[in-house]
Amino acid sequence: MASNHLPSLTRRQALAGSVALAAAASLPMTAQAQDGANPLAIPPLDEGRAEGGIQVFDLRIAKGTTEFFSGTKTDTYGINADYLGPVLSLQQGKTVRLNVTNDLDQKATLHWHGFELPAWCDGGPHQMIDPGQTWSPEFPVRQRAGSYWYHGHRMGHTGEHVWMGMAGMIRVRDAESDVLGLPSTYGVDDFSIALQDRWFNRRGQLDYAPSMHDEMMGMTGNTPLANGTMNAFAQVPTGLVRLRLLNGSNASFYNLGFDDGAAFWQIATDGGLLTAPVRRNALLIAPGERTEIIIDMSDGQTRTLGADLTPIEGGMGMGGGMMGMGRGGARGFAFVQLRPTGQPGTGSLPDRLSDLAPANAPDGAPVRRFVLEMNGMGPAAMARRLLGGSPFTINGASMDMAVVNEIVPVNTTEIWEVENTSPMAHPFHVHNTQFRILTRAGQPPEAGEAGLKDTVVVWGGQTVRLAVRFEDNTDADRPYMYHCHILEHEDAGMMGQFTVV
Ligand code: C2O
Ligand code: CU
Ligand code: CU
Repeated sequence: MASNHLPSLTRRQALAGSVALAAAASLPMTAQAQDGANPLAIPPLDEGRAEGGIQVFDLRIAKGTTEFFSGTKTDTYGINADYLGPVLSLQQGKTVRLNVTNDLDQKATLHWHGFELPAWCDGGPHQMIDPGQTWSPEFPVRQRAGSYWYHGHRMGHTGEHVWMGMAGMIRVRDAESDVLGLPSTYGVDDFSIALQDRWFNRRGQLDYAPSMHDEMMGMTGNTPLANGTMNAFAQVPTGLVRLRLLNGSNASFYNLGFDDGAAFWQIATDGGLLTAPVRRNALLIAPGERTEIIIDMSDGQTRTLGADLTPIEGGMGMGGGMMGMGRGGARGFAFVQLRPTGQPGTGSLPDRLSDLAPANAPDGAPVRRFVLEMNGMGPAAMARRLLGGSPFTINGASMDMAVVNEIVPVNTTEIWEVENTSPMAHPFHVHNTQFRILTRAGQPPEAGEAGLKDTVVVWGGQTVRLAVRFEDNTDADRPYMYHCHILEHEDAGMMGQFTVV
């Protein structure tokens, strides 16, 4: 089915002389999808099975091989699949049990990103699953209807595990959203799509061997994947289509849009529906973030969802050329072409989506500060790194499994002030909560970020203030994480731990 060719350049060659890449980058976004387009992979929608009122899922992490290029078997990781995993379908208020078996020959974890849950269920670096073992967290689903995800989170190996495919998406339903009439037939007018990019070596393998440069800038690739499909297309009704999008890349910031500039409506943020749809032509999504959009395909035109990569560094020092030349800069990525079938759609888009109180923190709410730093990027930093130190810190410290950095009182709204003193943007993620953005650089957030969030981009030199609250789940012994969701930064120590008591 796939008819793609192996890239003829090695990474090094492409980095050195970017003529060929520059030429490829100047092709129109649809060029990639014209010939040899492949049907978008639609992961199975896993409803689990009922066991005494509990929704039970069996998930198995294992090695697989995936034919990204026809005739080439690429080694990958997957969950009940060769690459990525099923889309888990959860219901708010129901208790789930997730039996996660690790069939790799190395330790792994599986984290439920975006969920409020007991610390022992979090699936962070402390919930390690030994090879051959099964871990069975069980918790009630508290989240609102929305798009969440799960992924490997082993200390120091998150980048590799996700790069190789250890991730999947989750959808939560709730009573409020069920009656809205939004497109919601999975794989027909409602798609969950993990957006990623990868770099394949000459043998078509996903070598995860970040250079020092990759550790600084994060691992990015030249090949866009939608649910693991290259040059993907999907048949859609000639009507409203809902796309639930995850930025499941290691480090790329995608500025999403359609090749014909068509306007669309953003209806959700990380933690579920916005109060009202936001009409827009472009939408930035950073690693770890999710969004949901509605695109009106009733004109019957084929169009392609794509992205330009947004440079994540500001001016200071790194030199725009580093990103612009090799693998970053404004580059057209075609993720998925939507082909209307002529069948009318059945979904609708109401003016009002949900009730969400304005973001607010009570007067006198305690302020907790987090300073994201990169301590120099010159030779000194390199030397420091060679000695085992990390240039990436939060409040001056790198992640240490043995250190709980913050102890946070339960059921208390705090203001988390996150300042980024580095020249690069960092998507700051907090476990076990859905927070609200109070201000970004002193201003209230734009409508598209005014909903519930668990990951927020903090641009170089910027400060964001968040209203953060942890409810009910307390555990003095087991910490949750906060970290940069550029996975190479996380693995390099830009992460800290907190307990809720
Ligand atoms: Cu999506 Cu701590 O991670
Ligand atoms: Cu998380
Ligand atoms: Cu970062």
